[in-house]
Amino acid sequence: FSPKVLAGQQVLVTAGPTFEALDPIRGITNHSSGKMGFAIARAAREAGAEVTLIAGPVHLPTPRGVRRIDVLSALEMLDAAQREAQHASVFVATAAVADWRPASHSEQKIKKDGSGHPPVLHFVENPDILATVAKSERARDGQLFCVGFAAESENLIAHAKAKRERKGIPLLVGNIGPLTFGQDDNSLLLVDADGVRELPRAPKLQLARELIAEVAARRSQGGL
Ligand code: C5P
Repeated sequence: FSPKVLAGQQVLVTAGPTFEALDPIRGITNHSSGKMGFAIARAAREAGAEVTLIAGPVHLPTPRGVRRIDVLSALEMLDAAQREAQHASVFVATAAVADWRPASHSEQKIKKDGSGHPPVLHFVENPDILATVAKSERARDGQLFCVGFAAESENLIAHAKAKRERKGIPLLVGNIGPLTFGQDDNSLLLVDADGVRELPRAPKLQLARELIAEVAARRSQGGL
């Protein structure tokens, strides 16, 4: 990546799914591969940034020169993201955070009780990591530029615009369907205050580089 458009910047990325434990051996998760977030971390590093990558459980090698923090649950990811965001200048949230976690966690394996009645599971909502970080003083002051992702199965543009406003972020990136979990190619829609622009279908690393160039341009304009 030349020139080093993010030299001197600290970039924080969340990637992958979260895993919400039910008991010591079971839990709920999703099919996020983490590839887009890992590609963004790599592209940011290539652009000269110091990069911290908070990763849920994925099977991907850490991009060279990137500091990686492994987490399991949404609460662990929130904790790490809030801590690391205190000295970041860019936050890109790509993680597919579980919307809900089991309301209670059993220390022992939940056993069949022989009654023929399966257990009833109760859930509570997880915090929105991106929206929480976007509300921090750093983000509101313009020192931290927050980018979100949206995967929608319909009405992408309308949903993406609404999501950008709801989360209080300057830039939202839509995954243009079909849902691309695990694939190497993608196409993206950039939604900001000025409107919508498409990055046509390309390998995720190329899209990540284009996105990083966009973020760098916005930061050098003063950001929000
Ligand atoms: O609301 P939705 O899950 O569609 O929003 C997606 C965006 O918000 C992604 O950038 C995702 O990483 C982030 N997110 C988050 N914490 C959540 C849910 C979503 O950071 N609990």
